[in-house]
Amino acid sequence: MIVPGYRDHPTEPWNPNSPADPGEAEDFLRQCYTENPRLGPVEPRLAIVRAQIAATGTYVHTTDELAHGARMAWRNASRCIGRLYWRSLMVLDRRRARTADEIFSLLVQHLQTAGSGQIRPVISIFAPAQPGREHARIWNEQLIRYAGYRTEDGRAVGDPRLAGFTKAVQGYGWRGKGEAFDVLPLVIETPGEGVRLYELPERAIREVPLSHPDHAWFTELGLRWHAVPAISNMRLTIGGVHYPLAPFNGWYMGTEIGARNLADADRYDMLPEIARRLGLDTSRESTLWRDRALVELNVAVLHSFERAGVKMSDHHTESQRFLTHIRNEEKAGRPTPADWTWIVPPMSGGLTPVFHRYYDELDLRPAFYLDEEAADLASIGASRCPHKL
Ligand code: ARG
Repeated sequence: MIVPGYRDHPTEPWNPNSPADPGEAEDFLRQCYTENPRLGPVEPRLAIVRAQIAATGTYVHTTDELAHGARMAWRNASRCIGRLYWRSLMVLDRRRARTADEIFSLLVQHLQTAGSGQIRPVISIFAPAQPGREHARIWNEQLIRYAGYRTEDGRAVGDPRLAGFTKAVQGYGWRGKGEAFDVLPLVIETPGEGVRLYELPERAIREVPLSHPDHAWFTELGLRWHAVPAISNMRLTIGGVHYPLAPFNGWYMGTEIGARNLADADRYDMLPEIARRLGLDTSRESTLWRDRALVELNVAVLHSFERAGVKMSDHHTESQRFLTHIRNEEKAGRPTPADWTWIVPPMSGGLTPVFHRYYDELDLRPAFYLDEEAADLASIGASRCPHKL
């Protein structure tokens, strides 16, 4: 489905009923074992995997394969500017969890492991999809997101991006406070138990209230954001095996919050209010009041996270790191697939070195994909294209 303002994520159509592709398994294993000589020769492993696929339609990754596969998927994520640290991804093997309660408590653990100050990149990998069987899923696009409401007089409160999802969870009985930053419940669906809602405990949710180093009035806006971005609806695919439930997090780059979440006209749309408080002339575009307000909002985001001791990077630093990453990968003999439209930061693009060049556009695996069904569940809490067995 097309959500205005959001470009479709590239994805290969996925049939959860098809067996693991032996060719993809082999490609992955060869690369994984070449990159990790300590794992020993790949040939004996290939023989085992071929036999497992022939007998069961799929195969089971070793802990090392799982961890390296997840790191490769991050390395291949062409829209991510933060890939320099791909080797440091902490991989939590959660393949044994089955019930919604178990999954929920491991998601809380995930957020706690990611931390609340010195944020570390973590992925929790739950059971892979098995051909011919239903699998567990989370409907939420991120573990932490704010509800969006429309008041009776038509005003938007909270995050409009989540308005459809908010309506859906209200249909399941959830009631938010109706405020601008109500953390949404997690919606976990398992084959055995159906749909269940869970409220995250406070200890799992670190938030930063926003203030500005030079403008005391800024706190009156009542803005805040959560410390950890944790994408929870992308499918991780490694060597022909699909992990539909594999939430992962990094740390924020300031512009994600300051130049998108709080600034976009179809999100929190804060620029007109900030411009007014700054006393800018908003009667004409050519005063660049939007741009000036945008800079101050982003100053506030970076300042507040720093003051709170929560890890965050700025777009200049992160752009330089990304070029370092590309050079490292070149030295290792690998291309770095990248999507210019996502890599270039949403403000001051031309001030960052990532703007002034082209990139390889490749769809390499292992990879993270956003399936249409998962996108629908996250945006409207229902699916128009269910893969029913
Ligand atoms: N842009 C998304 C957000 O604002 C988060 C995407 C992942 N970001 C990251 N730094 N790992 O919530």
